Amino acid sequence: MEPARLSINGHNAEFPVTVGTEDEVGFDILKLRGSTGAITLDPGFANTGSCESTITYIDGEKGILRYRGYTIEDLATKSTFVDVAHLLVRGELPTKKEADKFNEDLTHHSLLHEDMKKFFEGYPANAPPMSVLSTIVSSLSAYYPGSADGEDFDVNIVRLLAKLKTIAAFSYKKSIGQPYIYPRNDMGYAADFMHMMFAVPSEEYQPNDLLVRTLDMLLILHADHEQNCSTSTVRMVGSSGADLFTSISAGISALSGPLHGGANTAVIEMLDMIRKDGGDFKKYVDKAKDKNDPFRLMGFGHRVYKNFDPRAHVIKSNADEVLNKLGISDPLLDLAKQLERIALEDDYFVERGLYPNVDFYSGILYRAMGIPTDMFTVMFALGRLPGWIAQWVEMKKDPATRIYRPRQIYTGYTKRAFVPTENRG
Ligand code: SDX
Repeated sequence: MEPARLSINGHNAEFPVTVGTEDEVGFDILKLRGSTGAITLDPGFANTGSCESTITYIDGEKGILRYRGYTIEDLATKSTFVDVAHLLVRGELPTKKEADKFNEDLTHHSLLHEDMKKFFEGYPANAPPMSVLSTIVSSLSAYYPGSADGEDFDVNIVRLLAKLKTIAAFSYKKSIGQPYIYPRNDMGYAADFMHMMFAVPSEEYQPNDLLVRTLDMLLILHADHEQNCSTSTVRMVGSSGADLFTSISAGISALSGPLHGGANTAVIEMLDMIRKDGGDFKKYVDKAKDKNDPFRLMGFGHRVYKNFDPRAHVIKSNADEVLNKLGISDPLLDLAKQLERIALEDDYFVERGLYPNVDFYSGILYRAMGIPTDMFTVMFALGRLPGWIAQWVEMKKDPATRIYRPRQIYTGYTKRAFVPTENRG
């Protein structure tokens, strides 16, 4: 393809063009400042690619999401989270033999070092679960050095994938004052997590098969999403040479924000608020449209998806089936559907391409599993972990990777003389 041409500041420059396998077009501005003296300005990086990647493809206009070429619909309904984690981290869906070995590795690395329990003891019961998760993941570097590269790197990836669900479940047990339930080697990933969350020492607990499959599906739906805020954070921190655990800890922190992974918690809180306010949808839709009102319709809108989020479609259709099969009637699901209908009949939302995203319905299913609202974003992190790891490894291996260091346009004071304190009036 012809190079991109730019005429600016009295300079004319050409920039090489890259075309991806899905015909996305980007032009490389590596030499922009050197050849024109100008930089680009793109707050939020909505028009800026940070890398070339082979992991996940999203088409926001067509509502397409694929992990290494497989559609999210196929993976969510036909694969397992552990197989998808293998696909993302190692590049291919595993053979039966590879899957058995991967599952065995994840099973046998799911314990935490006993000394790590002291970290949980130091937290108050109401400690924000994402803060606990981020801190303890970062602490893994103290117990398992070598997660930046080197011979322990691969086993440290397995350790992280295996231990995150244990850290999450232990933080929950600590928050409710119950004893920790240790991982079981006879249970799969999702079943073992639910067992660690809900079993109590005095009773036999067998996770509900439908809920286990539903959790596995939710984890798949959250497993990667190209260069979103938290993934870009993981890449940025890793680009400085920081190790994997530290980089993932930063990604967990970025995900916790209500505009990102924290939205699933915010959606349920919003629906509950509307319910308590008598279900006055119009009031809240009008508030969301009012530029002077900070209220936003949580779970609505997306930087990339402008017609629909394919993950929301899968979750919404499963929510009905799961609740019906379990005989659960959740008033918030009916509220969510009514809110979606009203919003999507409103030009404000349609004109801006604001549709339900992955967070709008996911909380309904987490509630059906008995997962507390303040743990919803932790569930998002559990799902996103293999994607973060895959993206971090790709960044490390990419010869084009440089330490992330964006520029700026300075708009502050120009040079001025220093005035001693006594003369400043
Ligand atoms: C996730 O990037 C990813 O891939 C993220 C994610 C992943 O898997 O990693 O998909 C996960 O984070 C999903 C998004 C969860 N967040 C929410 O549900 C929070 C509510 N939504 C938003 O705040 C917002 O839509 C964002 C943050 C998701 C996207 O923000 P953008 O792309 O910066 O869009 P914007 O703020 O520039 O909004 C464009 C317009 C604005 O109006 P105008 O200035 O054009 O008049 O749409 C309006 C916004 O005011 N708008 C909303 C709205 N979202 C956008 N108005 C009301 N309610 C909303 N939810």
